[in-house]
Amino acid sequence: MSLRLEGKVAVVIGAAGGIGRGVAERFAEEGARVLIGDGKEAEGRATAAAIGGDFLPVDVSRYDDVQALVDLALERYGRLDVAVQNAGIYPWQLIEDTTPDDWDRVLGVNLKGCFNVARAALAPMKAQRAGRILFTSSITGPRVTGPGHGHYAASKAGINGLIRAAALEYSAWGITVNGVEPGNILTEAIKEHRGADYIADMEQSIPLGRLGSTRDVANAFLFLASDDASYITGTTIIVDGGQILPEGNDFRIEVKNL
Ligand SMILES: NC(=O)c1ccc[n+]([C@@H]2O[C@H](COP(=O)([O-])OP(=O)(O)OC[C@H]3O[C@@H](n4cnc5c(N)ncnc54)[C@H](O)[C@@H]3O)[C@@H](O)[C@H]2O)c1
Repeated sequence: MSLRLEGKVAVVIGAAGGIGRGVAERFAEEGARVLIGDGKEAEGRATAAAIGGDFLPVDVSRYDDVQALVDLALERYGRLDVAVQNAGIYPWQLIEDTTPDDWDRVLGVNLKGCFNVARAALAPMKAQRAGRILFTSSITGPRVTGPGHGHYAASKAGINGLIRAAALEYSAWGITVNGVEPGNILTEAIKEHRGADYIADMEQSIPLGRLGSTRDVANAFLFLASDDASYITGTTIIVDGGQILPEGNDFRIEVKNL
């Protein structure tokens, strides 16, 4: 059986842990050479070692760091097929408590980070006349939101706009640009920041009855990175267990004869 990313070279930023780690693992399982960039050096190196990949410390909000990771991919493997920008931060802050610096930090990582990756990946992908650029967006911002997510929601809605703009500009070279919008995904960060009560409550409001796994999200990235998605560009896949569907809280029906 052939592997779905055999011979491909992928950079995945924000892959020391959480969803990004799941994406890096899934890509490596399917035969890709994976280079991880992340701000957390020890965890990033450990993840790269576990999947037989490379690691470079990267602050995705800094263009030169992102360029250095792309250059490393070209130096080691001579090509770049897939570039994933998954790094994101989600501090809970009401707008009235958010300082201009807080705003810049969240937008700098989440949104400017995607611009940096799209810009740095362009030259090698243009030369190859092929490439996949993939961003982690969110249902928060493009579809729904809650209090405390002003900067985060703006950054993720902005990512969806950038996906469409870049997809259009890059189409001339056969490069596709897409994203994944996760709902509530059970990562260590969510367990730590939100706690058991939040998770139990969330399970009640997700039609499929559970939070998503990092592998659920990674499978959507794998599809978008694979040849199966060669005619898809400028869009996102929602991976949320149906969370954005209900109009209200009374959506559960009694299922008879189960
Ligand atoms: N977990 C969820 O429920 C959920 C839902 C929707 C969207 N998302 C998005 O998924 C992505 C991953 O989230 P997660 O829950 O796995 O979080 P996480 O904190 O486990 O992982 C984020 C990774 O990004 C890295 N990172 C943070 N800032 C960085 C920077 N400036 N430069 C480079 N690396 C940096 C972190 O070190 C970490 O390894 C984020 O973009 C987040 O907004 C998560």
